[in-house]
Amino acid sequence: MAEAKLHLADDRHVDLPITRGTEDEVGLDISRLRADTGAITLDPSLGNTGACTSAITYIDGEKGILRYRGYAIEDLAENSNFPEVCHLLIRGSLPSKSERDDFRTRMTRHTLVHEDMKKFFEGFPPSAHPMAILCAMVSSLSAYYPEDDSPEELDLNIIRLLAKAKTLAAFSFKKSIGHPFIYPRNDLGYVANFLRMMFAVPAEPYDIDPVVVDALNKLLILHADHEQNCSTTTVRTVCSSGANLFASISAGICALWGPLHGGANQAVIEMLDRIAVDPDGCEKYINLAKQKDSGFRLMGFGHRVYRNFDPRALILKKSADALLSKLGVDDPLLAVAQKLEEAALSDDYFIERKLYPNVDFYSGILYRAIGIPTDMFTVMFALGRMPGWIAHWLEERNSPGARIIRPRQIYTGATARPWLPIDKR
Ligand code: ACO
Repeated sequence: MAEAKLHLADDRHVDLPITRGTEDEVGLDISRLRADTGAITLDPSLGNTGACTSAITYIDGEKGILRYRGYAIEDLAENSNFPEVCHLLIRGSLPSKSERDDFRTRMTRHTLVHEDMKKFFEGFPPSAHPMAILCAMVSSLSAYYPEDDSPEELDLNIIRLLAKAKTLAAFSFKKSIGHPFIYPRNDLGYVANFLRMMFAVPAEPYDIDPVVVDALNKLLILHADHEQNCSTTTVRTVCSSGANLFASISAGICALWGPLHGGANQAVIEMLDRIAVDPDGCEKYINLAKQKDSGFRLMGFGHRVYRNFDPRALILKKSADALLSKLGVDDPLLAVAQKLEEAALSDDYFIERKLYPNVDFYSGILYRAIGIPTDMFTVMFALGRMPGWIAHWLEERNSPGARIIRPRQIYTGATARPWLPIDKR
């Protein structure tokens, strides 16, 4: 039964059934709007448009709530590890002990990349951004592991993607510094394996610091999903055309790269670096951010959904303090970040617009403490977001009655005009 009705000025109308979410969110179903009235909705940048229903992640931006499959992000960050959260997002439940062991073993066993793929790395210049390498490599996986329609093969490709992404990420770092690749080891867990591939040097022992493993697990968990953000929407859109898993996720990686999305973590550190050496300090940058024509924004501030606080930023702020003191790292950028946050949060411009630090504001400080170079930050985000993208890809693919995603537009160009020969234009 219709619960809302939309009347257009000329008496045309349409019944709008209401879809309610499990948290009582309300969606007006406009799927009959064009057929019944000839009109469409206009919602540039889709701030008011629900493009799907989803059972993966719940966010309440006013209350600062983020839950994966019903579990609070705070609980998951405190108590789970990243492979467990991958299982939760992709399979829908936290694993039992045997499921966890099986999932872990498979994620480890498929970590190696095809030897031929190593040749791809040789073709990139040493200055190549690791995000450029990562998206090319992930898309190339489809050449090695073509999709067939069996659920077993698809499941294997999901595991391959989760397992190999960290190897590809670490190899792209090694390539950028001209060091030989370090191969994965099957006796190590996801994060320890990644750290070793990143930082070990051949023929030298490499000790894995459990403090760093914990911190990285937490960072990856906090990035693992965030419902219909720009990159996830990209993944779902590409999936809706029937494109394979690797191609769709590679498109998501490209969408993540931009500085308004995942690229913000790199941009934050570059901004803090600038502020740290500028005698005019934070105040100058707060003022610049308030001047629209300056083209400058406070990176790591603001969010389309969170209007109160970003729960991930709160967790990371606490972790940054704790990690730096545990590792004995004295990073002057932490003090700059804290000062900038304090100044922004007491400024009317930021208060009125409800602009708070987002997940990217403190994540870079943590990555730096772990030793991850700045241009790898967005790659780290991509590794964390991988299970979320995969879960959404599966959900989109398996949605009953799902059609190719194809929005409409309101045309504002020239009306019909005659074609003229070149001497008469
Ligand atoms: N610095 C200064 N002003 C800002 C900022 C900022 N970081 N963010 C938003 N504003 C202002 C806008 O100029 C606008 O002001 P107005 O109402 O006077 O025109 C108002 O706040 C609303 O901003 P919008 O751009 O409409 O907000 P939107 O929801 O479209 O954008 C976004 C959200 C992209 C995150 C934005 O806040 C931003 O650019 N932040 C900086 C980049 C960043 O940190 N991105 C990471 C986001 S989190 C993630 O993707 C993981």
